[in-house]
Parts: sequence; structure tokens; C-alpha cells
Amino acid sequence: MLKLAVLVSGGGTNLQAIMDAIDKGAITGARIQTVISNNADAYALERARKYGAEALLLAPRDFENREAFHQALLNALLERQIDLVVLAGYLVVVPPAVIRAFENRIINIHPSLIPSFCGTGCYGLHVHEKALARGVKVSGATVHFVDEGTDTGPIILQKPVAVKDDDTPEILQRRIMEEAEWVILPKAIDLIAAGKVHVNGRKVTIDQ
Ligand code: GRF
Repeated sequence: MLKLAVLVSGGGTNLQAIMDAIDKGAITGARIQTVISNNADAYALERARKYGAEALLLAPRDFENREAFHQALLNALLERQIDLVVLAGYLVVVPPAVIRAFENRIINIHPSLIPSFCGTGCYGLHVHEKALARGVKVSGATVHFVDEGTDTGPIILQKPVAVKDDDTPEILQRRIMEEAEWVILPKAIDLIAAGKVHVNGRKVTIDQ
């Protein structure tokens, strides 16, 4: 049984999608060991509590310096013997020490078809504002392994979503969440838990 740590900073709709997928059997072989947030006000923590999962607050400002925060985050993951770290709207840069300790065992959901509209500063609504400003006809979401870059790790799953002429950033964000993020993030977890995901350098192959 794969032990998951889900890292969150906001509303937690992707966390909710994971919890719902586990409950309905769309994810087998994995369970949520802990939910960690940097933000005490994150509704995602409330979702975790309602679900009965540990809701752990690790806020950088509660530590004397950034290094102490990094060490606390790494320790929290190691002490719980976490197998897979899932970034679900986590807005803190993952410390290199965590990336090294969890090579190809950290995944992230990004609300665009990487390599479009990603990298530093491309998060939340900014992603959709850029997509609409560029006039793309198709956007979507990507699940990828996390490496030491920003949104640069090997791509696991992507799902396209049509952009409509009258979309606002908020409408497009919601459609991408509903039609793509909440589908491919649970799917990626289930595939990884089943041992079907293989990383070969920059390429990911998935057993059919
Ligand atoms: C989602 O749009 C996700 O793509 C991005 O951050 C947002 C998190 O939303 N990484 P939620 O907290 O899961 O509702």
C-alpha cells in the first residue's frame, strides 16, 4: 500500500479528487498518510480533517530560518515513511534535499500542457491569463515528476481541454480543473501505485 503525502496551499479540490478516487476505488494500492500545508488557512486542511487524514501545518514563518523549515519538511516525510509525495497546489518551492531524497517520487499537477505556460511565476490564474492572452485553442493539465527545476520534470500524463472564445481566466481554470486535473492526478497516482509508470531519462512510459 503506497503511503501518500499530499502537499497543499489552497482550496484542496485536487486533494478532494484524490480522496474521492480512493473512496470509490478509482485509486487502489495507495492511501493518504498525511496532508501538509504551509498555509494555516488552506481549506485543504479542513478537507483533510473531515476525511480523517492527518492535517499537518509546516509554515516557513514558524521556523527560525528557511533551512530549519526544509529540514522539518524532509523529516516529516521520512518519519512517516512516505512513498509518494503529491504536490496539489503547493506554492512553496520544494527543497533540493527533499527532491534528492524522493527522486522520481514527487509528482505535481500543473494547469497547462507543459511546456506551455509553465515555469517561474506561472501558477494559479496567471497560467490561464497567459493562455488566453496567447489565444491558444487548446489548453489542459499536466502531471509530471518533480525535479530541481520549475515544472521541468518528466511528464507522466496530460489531458487537453478546449478553450472557448468567451472564456475568462476563472472559467477556463474551472473547466481545466473539472475536465483534466481532477481526472489525471488520481489516474497518475493509481498507475504509479500499480507499478505501471517507468521513467527513462526524460521520458515516461506507462504499461497498458
Ligand atoms: C490547481 O489549479 C492546480 O493546477 C494548481 O494549483 C491549483 C490548486 O487548486 N497547481 P486546489 O488547491 O487543488 O483546489
